[in-house]
Amino acid sequence: MGVINLSHASSLHFTNPTSPTPSSKRNTRPTSVIAMSTIPVQQQPPLVNDGQHRLTGDSFIRTHLRTLSPYQPILPFEVLSARLGRKPEDIIKLDANENPYGPPPEVSEALGALKFPYIYPDPESRCLRAALAKDSGLDAEYLLAGCGADELIDLIMRCVLDPGDKIVDCPPTFTMYEFDAAVNGASVIKVPRKSNFSLNVEVISDVVKQEKPKCIFLTSPNNPDGSIISDDILLKILELPILVVLDEAYIEFSGLESRMQWVKKHENLIVLRTFSKRAGLAGLRVGYGAFPLTIIEYLWRAKQPYNVSVAAEVSACAALQNPTYLENVKNALLQERDRLYHLLKELPFLKPYPSYSNFILCEVTSGMDAKKLKEDLAKMGVMIRHYNNKELSGYVRVSVGKPEHTDTLIDCLRRLS
Ligand SMILES: Cc1ncc(COP(=O)(O)O)c(C=O)c1O
Repeated sequence: MGVINLSHASSLHFTNPTSPTPSSKRNTRPTSVIAMSTIPVQQQPPLVNDGQHRLTGDSFIRTHLRTLSPYQPILPFEVLSARLGRKPEDIIKLDANENPYGPPPEVSEALGALKFPYIYPDPESRCLRAALAKDSGLDAEYLLAGCGADELIDLIMRCVLDPGDKIVDCPPTFTMYEFDAAVNGASVIKVPRKSNFSLNVEVISDVVKQEKPKCIFLTSPNNPDGSIISDDILLKILELPILVVLDEAYIEFSGLESRMQWVKKHENLIVLRTFSKRAGLAGLRVGYGAFPLTIIEYLWRAKQPYNVSVAAEVSACAALQNPTYLENVKNALLQERDRLYHLLKELPFLKPYPSYSNFILCEVTSGMDAKKLKEDLAKMGVMIRHYNNKELSGYVRVSVGKPEHTDTLIDCLRRLS
């Protein structure tokens, strides 16, 4: 499999995926280039049973997975702490959009009071779905919970994609869509966002007509830039013959209504949400989705029965019992986002983008190197996210933390200028 670059929506060019891609600056980035990326071509290990080669373990692995590049997760806190020679509590973690306030106190109380950890969890997560129905106003029959929104992205792909099917991805965006597509043997048609990070709807329409992809992943607010998708644009895309998976992992920070209710009207819409950001439960892994009834039935059939642990379900239910806490934490983060944005803007080497989420994307300017900036901050105990991919070379993303995190970050950045 290879990489396809499309200069115009009407013509396909195959290019060698192993040849280096020149890094492009955002303002020079083409807006209508489509790339279909799958898996880098490398030497394949010999197949089993050819009678001539020594059998190695990797020969048993499915062909399309043998050359898959591993997902690059962030370092676990303990490993990071050992590497930096700092106690975890002395590290300011602004690299993974976690919620630094954590969950409401009801969560640790509920976890401490767990009576039956030795019994398998409810495969239908009934308590959680009932609580979510109350929280969202959407009946529980439309809702399914998962081990993070991440699990649901993979589950949707496993239900929808046949090997060789195509998905549409709109980078820069959350990289799990591309990763899961590769794991599921699908191809990715990339329709890059425009220079202001808005979706290129014309090219998306052309691609849907010509390439007939099965589904498109949209993110609102988008990670990493924090932009949102308007009702008009979403409705235009929903008119296309494609399944739209709308990832609302950060919707609480946008001030906008979730589109979960829309799944009642649009049979080609799925909306994903998570407790990781809104409720500070990233470590316990709880996500959920709203699905049309004609789709959800198949997810029930295909999902692992015990995908949401007892601890995860109890924690999510407990978090929903304290909506005032969730609201206060959200407001604190929104207030801090504004303060952080203005402080970042004052620095001569950063150009922050306005964000509807709990993170701020910044272009690193004035000859400053984005990777070095990230590394220098890490040495000072402040973690931020740096990008070196094609769409975002020379950018960093900073999660919104507590006021004291902002103060230390800005102090360190000033020392580096
Ligand atoms: C856009 C987006 N969707 C989904 C997720 C994953 O959510 P979860 O922690 O529920 O798996 C993230 C995590 O950063 C994200 O940025």
